[in-house]
Amino acid sequence: MDEGKRYITIALAKGRLAEQTLDLFEKSGITCDEIRDKKTRKLIFQNPELKVRFFMSKTSDVPTYVEYGAADMGVVGADTIIEEHRKVLEVLDLGLGRCDMCVAGPAAAKDDLLNGRIRRVATKYPYIAKDYFYEKKHQTVEIVKLNGSVELAPIVGLSEVIVDIVETGSTLRANGLEVLETICPLSARVIVNEAGMKLESERILKLINALKEAL
Ligand code: PRP
Repeated sequence: MDEGKRYITIALAKGRLAEQTLDLFEKSGITCDEIRDKKTRKLIFQNPELKVRFFMSKTSDVPTYVEYGAADMGVVGADTIIEEHRKVLEVLDLGLGRCDMCVAGPAAAKDDLLNGRIRRVATKYPYIAKDYFYEKKHQTVEIVKLNGSVELAPIVGLSEVIVDIVETGSTLRANGLEVLETICPLSARVIVNEAGMKLESERILKLINALKEAL
């Protein structure tokens, strides 16, 4: 082991992708037992042999840590990468957590959506919703930012439709809603800090290749 080597820092997203991402890192030999301890209050975990350290952050913060170089690499969903639009390099599609970003609502809203008669769209993803409605569909709508359980919005009359992630579709079905338009496919991606990619390219590429092989 080279004692002088600096640690490569990897930011992982808390939440639904966390377990699958850790499994993949483990499979690729980039291990860290400490991080699996559910009772720990520690925020950062290291593997001194590999000189790699991990931390788990709120999903939407992963691209921020990577843009500023506080993390050399990160693993996060494409939804977050697009929404946060940080300056990072997207280097690998891990194919985990596949789902779609969709416009959803009651079947009755389909005609209004087609004919540009939607007035309000509720979403956790205002940037993605704006880009879709303003730039792609050339429709002026009011975007209402929510922080979760977005499916409620059309039910209680906050908006006619929502822009949200659909994985199995069961949340929509359970609430009498359906996919009206698909915006783009999503999955977990590896992102890298731009400067770090130049300074530590050999070590970072080795980690990326190990992940690729484990896929
Ligand atoms: C996500 C998303 C949908 C649901 C889709 O929410 O916003 O609500 O999952 O999954 P499904 O198609 O498999 O039903 P999440 O569980 O992250 O919770 P939140 O709505 O409170 O953010």
